[in-house]
Amino acid sequence: MERNTKKVSDSMVEQVFQVRPEHLNGAGRLFGGQLMAWIDEVAGLVGIRHSNGDVITASVDNLKFMRGAYLKDLIVLVGRITYVGHTSMDVRVDTYIEDHRGIRRSINRAYLTLVAVDENDKPRPVPGLTLENESEQAEWLAGEKRRELRGQRRKEGF
Ligand SMILES: CC(C)(COP(=O)(O)OP(=O)(O)OC[C@H]1O[C@@H](n2cnc3c(N)ncnc32)[C@H](O)[C@@H]1OP(=O)(O)O)[C@@H](O)C(=O)NCCC(=O)NCCS
Repeated sequence: MERNTKKVSDSMVEQVFQVRPEHLNGAGRLFGGQLMAWIDEVAGLVGIRHSNGDVITASVDNLKFMRGAYLKDLIVLVGRITYVGHTSMDVRVDTYIEDHRGIRRSINRAYLTLVAVDENDKPRPVPGLTLENESEQAEWLAGEKRRELRGQRRKEGF
């Protein structure tokens, strides 16, 4: 049977939070663990939308903190699917601070791998991905490379 496919835009998620006192660490900045929780949540929503069901986070492949955030900052997270395997999906989450003019400054970029699971938590197949432009094609190629590196890491134990 031919594999059903979806577009990147079908599952894209944009979520906005405001940094409140309970999100800060002792140094008065946004606590990194809080941001990671938001990133994981957004990635999970992208995975649920693409796969039409439950997902679990298998790994965080890469997570880069570029700048800090502070009380009252508006934090915008944009999640998009970049690559799919048979049951797994790679999701990129970009995080920005948005000022009152609507201008966004990038503060974090992360790549996560989600696995679609059935009611018994067993991996289940996901739809394929239709790539619509060059940047989606470039992300797909990078996803293939990351998958290759994960396999190598698993085999060689580094
Ligand atoms: C993720 C999990 C379901 C994979 O189970 P598994 O028995 O290894 O399943 P498989 O070997 O059949 O792999 C299934 C898919 O997951 C991928 N995968 C497995 N472990 C992975 C890892 N650490 N990182 C990235 N992908 C992984 C495989 O490459 C495969 O992808 P594909 O179908 O697209 O080729 C299992 O390891 C698990 O339940 N982990 C705990 C997840 C969890 O609790 N997360 C935190 C809370 S959400």
